[in-house]
Amino acid sequence: MPVDTDKIKEILQSYPADQHYSLAIMQDLQHEFQYIPREGLEALSDYLGVPLSSLYSMATFYKALSLKPKGKHIIKLCDGTACHIRGSMTLVEGITRALGITDGETTDDGLFSLELVNCLGSCALAPVMVIDDTYYGKMTMEKLPGVLDSYRKEG
Ligand code: FES
Repeated sequence: MPVDTDKIKEILQSYPADQHYSLAIMQDLQHEFQYIPREGLEALSDYLGVPLSSLYSMATFYKALSLKPKGKHIIKLCDGTACHIRGSMTLVEGITRALGITDGETTDDGLFSLELVNCLGSCALAPVMVIDDTYYGKMTMEKLPGVLDSYRKEG
């Protein structure tokens, strides 16, 4: 999908051309596109007069920023205390085995991304997994394939 360059321009121009704002601008780009498109990073480099390589290092350093598009479905797996105690790490292994991705990665077909997150506020349902906006409480390894398959079928 082509990147909306007008939107990139709009974000850049909402900040003064000062390199102190580079992180804030990257966060806005991330928020808008769910990742930082290459076009955005290049435009930012021109706008601030900062080398592209410095912006790349910054973008790879901050976990909240991503240089790759996220998957169509975002799997958020809670690794807060309650979920951790009830086996969230086993579920991560299950997802890694089923999809070949771990925390922060996206499947090659672009269908799923996995993110480990802190408490989702539903500890009574631990371990909790959320795909897009749907909560799956008391998640088990047994339920995992069926849930993932339902998204695969949907595409
Ligand atoms: S620790 Fe997972 S929902 Fe609270």
